[in-house]
Amino acid sequence: MGYKVAVVGATGAVGREMLTTLAERDFPATEVVALASEKSAGTEVSYGEEKTLKVQNLATYDFKGTDIALFSAGGSISEKYAPIAAAAGCVAIDNSSHFRMDPDVPLVVPEVNAGAVAKYGKRNIIANPNCSTAQLVVALKPLHDLAQIKRVVVSTYQSVSGAGKEGMDELFTQTRAIYVNDPVENTQFTKQIAFNVIPHIDKFMDDGSTKEEWKMTSEVKKILDPAIELVAMCVRVPVFIGHAEAVFIETEDSLSVEEARDAMQDFPGLVVVDHRADEGYVTPQECAGEDAVYVSRVRKDPTVKNGLIFWCVSDNLRKGAALNAVQIAETLVKNHLEKAA
Ligand code: A2P
Repeated sequence: MGYKVAVVGATGAVGREMLTTLAERDFPATEVVALASEKSAGTEVSYGEEKTLKVQNLATYDFKGTDIALFSAGGSISEKYAPIAAAAGCVAIDNSSHFRMDPDVPLVVPEVNAGAVAKYGKRNIIANPNCSTAQLVVALKPLHDLAQIKRVVVSTYQSVSGAGKEGMDELFTQTRAIYVNDPVENTQFTKQIAFNVIPHIDKFMDDGSTKEEWKMTSEVKKILDPAIELVAMCVRVPVFIGHAEAVFIETEDSLSVEEARDAMQDFPGLVVVDHRADEGYVTPQECAGEDAVYVSRVRKDPTVKNGLIFWCVSDNLRKGAALNAVQIAETLVKNHLEKAA
């Protein structure tokens, strides 16, 4: 026995990674369905090393009989189709931001708040956090348990795959155009991304922050602790895969560097690589294709009473999106769905 699983947005950067992750982790699926827009219907996507799936049109797909659907086709598609899937008895695990702050929708990073999955039945929808939030809460959780985090300041260095396949194509095309002296065009990003950095992700809010920065604050509160104050500066960098974050925390209780490192190293999904020497830290280029969240450069912040600084990187398509969604699905089938795996 197993589950019928659909991937919505199966031709996109995250959707493809979802299919890879389901296959790699031997998710107990009897059938996997790849869904995308009408224009992709009939094309093929890979499922694991050997299998391919024929893409079907989401608009005409009947979710009846599908147990779980992983959505990664953008907010408006989730807004319309996740409730349709849910009404047909399918649990929607949604990677878009659309349902994240809905009080009836759990927002889950399994290493941090797996128990929240229990509330999935209110709407039959579970939300996956923003990619920058997912890796950050994994790194913060063991420190919060030890010393109670009061405040977080975070600067992000986010790769173009966070903007989907078209964002990756734009970095590639612009880089090539610059080398061969062709004109450079921006369509996905507001400014040239090749050989540049852009301090702007998602739309501007009234207070001058961006929606990406607001998401980090509100999602950390919902997943980890509403008492934590967090301010973020989110920046797009010309990296294909892997988000990096410089994180500055203040805790209620004092916390030594050694205690912090040990607690992080023992935490599931977190790996500390921190040698204070050339090459003794992890960069996005090395974490692409990996499941873990990596922490490096842990040190005291001498400017505040109980302050710590660290560097945190992870593959945004994996822990930031596809892997986390599949881990939610694993938690759901293990603890909540009736069909035996
Ligand atoms: P398609 O390739 O058919 O447009 P990314 O975030 O990497 O850009 O991927 C977006 C994903 O969302 C793709 O799989 C894309 O499919 C899918 N998608 C976009 N619009 C729709 C739509 N109207 N209906 C179904 N899937 C869609």
